[in-house]
Amino acid sequence: MQADVLNGLRGTPKKMAAKYFYDEAGDKLFQEIMNCPEYYVTDCELEIFTEQTGEMADLILRGGEPFDLIELGAGDCTKSSHLLSLLLATDTDFTYCPIDISASTIEYLETALPQQLPGLKLQGLHGDYFDMLAIAAERSVRKVVLCLGANIGNMPVVEAQEFCTKLRSYLSPGDMVIMGVDLKKDPHLIRAAYDDTDGITSRFNLNLLSRLNRELDASFDLEAFKHYCSYDPESGACKSYLISLKDQLVKVSDEEITFRKDEYIWMEISQKYELAEIDDMAVAAGFAPVKHLLDSKAWFTDGVWVVKQ
Ligand code: AVJ
Repeated sequence: MQADVLNGLRGTPKKMAAKYFYDEAGDKLFQEIMNCPEYYVTDCELEIFTEQTGEMADLILRGGEPFDLIELGAGDCTKSSHLLSLLLATDTDFTYCPIDISASTIEYLETALPQQLPGLKLQGLHGDYFDMLAIAAERSVRKVVLCLGANIGNMPVVEAQEFCTKLRSYLSPGDMVIMGVDLKKDPHLIRAAYDDTDGITSRFNLNLLSRLNRELDASFDLEAFKHYCSYDPESGACKSYLISLKDQLVKVSDEEITFRKDEYIWMEISQKYELAEIDDMAVAAGFAPVKHLLDSKAWFTDGVWVVKQ
C-alpha cells in the first residue's frame, strides 16, 4: 500500500488506488452508500438476481456437466446466494469458490453459507483475484466466473479490456463469465449516486485519507480537502476527486507531498457503458456475448459471456 500510495501521489495528476478504500470503516461506509436512496447500482443488480435467476441458471446449466462457480470479490454474497439456492435445487454437481482479498470475508462465508445453504460444496480462496484464479484453474472442471457489482467500472476502459483478456486466459472454451456492468443513463442520476445529499460518498473518500494517517503515518487534514464528482455522458466516466482547499504540505511516511490550492487527487473512476460497448469488450477478449440480463429500468446489466470454441 505504501509504494502504491506514494507512487500515486508523486505523479501528476495525483491518484489513489480504489482497492484501498475498503478498510473496516470503508466497508461500513460502502454499506451505507449501498443503502442510500441515490445509489441505485446494488438495487438494480439485486433485482436481476432475485427476478432472473431462473434464466441465469438455465444459461449456466447448459450442457449439464459439473462446474465450479467462482466469484471474484464475493463479499457477503447477498446477490449470488439467490443463484446458489436455485442451483442447489437442480441437483447439479457444482462447487462454489468465492475469492476475496479479505480473509475475514472468506472465514465468514465458510461458517455462514453451510448453515444457510445446506449441501453446498464450498471452497473459499482468500487472496488476489488472479493468483486465486490460477489455483482454481488447476481443477479441470468447467468454470463459471461471477464478476458482479460493477467492480470492472473501477478500471478505466483500457484496463478493463486488459482485465477481461487476462480473465479469458485462465479459462477454456465453454467456460462462462457473468459480468455486472453499470450502464450509461440520465447523467443526473449517475452524478447523484456518487454525490449523495447525506455526504456518505464524501466521507467514503475522506476515510481513505484517515486510513493513510493511521497506517502510513500521514498528516492529511480532512477539513482541507473536499469531495467533487463529475460525470461525462460522452465517455461514460464518472470520476471522484478530493480537491485541496489550500496550498498545503502533507507528510506521507517519510515523504512530503505538496498540494496547491484547487489541486486534486483523483480518487476513483466508476465507468459506465453501453450494451454494445460491453459486447465489443467481450468479443475483443475472446468471449461470445450470450445474453444481457437487465433490471426492469435497464440501468444495469449482468452480461453472460461464453469462451469461444
Ligand atoms: C463497488 C466499485 C461498484 O464504483 O459504484 C460507490 C464503489 N464508490 N460509490 C462503484 C463506489 C463510490 C462502487 N463499486
